[in-house]
Amino acid sequence: MKIIKIQGKNELNGTIKVSGAKNSAVALIPAALLCDEVVKFSNVPDISDIDVIKDIIIDLKGSFRRKDDGFVYIASNEMINKEIPEKLATKLRASYYFMGALLGKFKRVEIYLPGGCVIGARPIDLHIKGFKKLGAKVEFVDNKVIISADELIGNNIYLDFASVGATINIMLAAVKAKGVTIIENAAKEPEIVNVANFLNLMGAKIHGAGTDTIRIKGVDYLHSCFHEVIPDRIEAATFIMIGACLSKDLTVENVIPEHLHSLLKKLDEMGVDLEIEEDKIHVTNKNKLNAIRIRTDVYPGFPTDMQQIIASLLTQAEGTSVIEETIFENRFQNLYELQKMGAIINIDGKRAYIKGPTPLYADNIVASDLRAGAGLVLAALIAEGTTVINNVEYILRGYENIVEKLTNIGAKIELIEI
Ligand code: UD1
Repeated sequence: MKIIKIQGKNELNGTIKVSGAKNSAVALIPAALLCDEVVKFSNVPDISDIDVIKDIIIDLKGSFRRKDDGFVYIASNEMINKEIPEKLATKLRASYYFMGALLGKFKRVEIYLPGGCVIGARPIDLHIKGFKKLGAKVEFVDNKVIISADELIGNNIYLDFASVGATINIMLAAVKAKGVTIIENAAKEPEIVNVANFLNLMGAKIHGAGTDTIRIKGVDYLHSCFHEVIPDRIEAATFIMIGACLSKDLTVENVIPEHLHSLLKKLDEMGVDLEIEEDKIHVTNKNKLNAIRIRTDVYPGFPTDMQQIIASLLTQAEGTSVIEETIFENRFQNLYELQKMGAIINIDGKRAYIKGPTPLYADNIVASDLRAGAGLVLAALIAEGTTVINNVEYILRGYENIVEKLTNIGAKIELIEI
């Protein structure tokens, strides 16, 4: 087990670089298995979720190599089609992308149901509905699902909710299907565009990714390519919010500001001092922060993944802020830890009311999931004294070298194996 210890109230200045996006990379690498040749990626984050994706590929006798030059190479020519074991599939949510990828590649996949952060019910009915529409047979045996088809045939698929996972998974299954697939009410997140661009580079014919209608014309062969994982917008958001509280001069590098639009608008409303360049953002804590209202929504709305992080920042804003979580049912666990640290928060169903500003005090706290953990890192950096964060394995799933990165800008932070 690992813990993180943070001594708070230190000023953090300098430059911090954002890594490749977790939610892109965990889809791109399974997508690369559809390729009939070798694929090369840059910017694949070195995080534990990617380690599990790698373990699944190795278990299937595929190849995942991270070379000294930093590039990751994926080859699937020797891959076998076998069950993905429970101990691997349940380690992360994104194991569901092996469903679409292997169904597209082998026309059959046998996999245990995915795991991931416990932030709500997180069903996969829309993924399954999509696979069935493409002609697949779906069989559930206890915690395992077997999806198979003699042939996948393009169809019109309407998603009842614009799910990120279902949109990508259906795209993966449809890329090599016969004929045309149209996904309506598709999700529009930047990670979806990143995956569609990658598939198109290999020869797929996908139009409309980033809008709510995606059209996929099936192809027989996908060839080698080189592709870059986009910068992680949630990691960027985390660093920007750290700067808004604790920095006289922080530059967050390797960002695509357009992907952060809703956050930057809200930070502007709070009064945060921001200077936005093409691929970097400068942030300071020179302004007083005002309370705001946030309602999470699908992209381009305010991301649910940033909600738990901004909650910590809102404890430092003047007045009562309101967060309304509309995507997941159980995404306020971090707030109970903030209360232990001195925050004044009322939780009422889907809404949380945060009254600030309040000083935060170090405590022994627990990360209940990945983004809750990131929010607690921010709270610990703000707090008086030395905070101990438990369950930090969650944080390491999604943040590459978080301890080194924060140390480099002046944080007093330690990762300790206990
Ligand atoms: C992805 C992200 C996660 C992010 C979320 C929303 C990955 C690996 N994870 O998760 O970080 O918080 O998008 O931006 O990229 N739903 C159904 N049926 C389904 C699928 C989803 O009812 O078949 C519901 C979910 O329970 C949830 C909502 O749709 O309430 C959004 O889920 P979805 O967009 O699918 O999120 P994930 O792919 O799980």
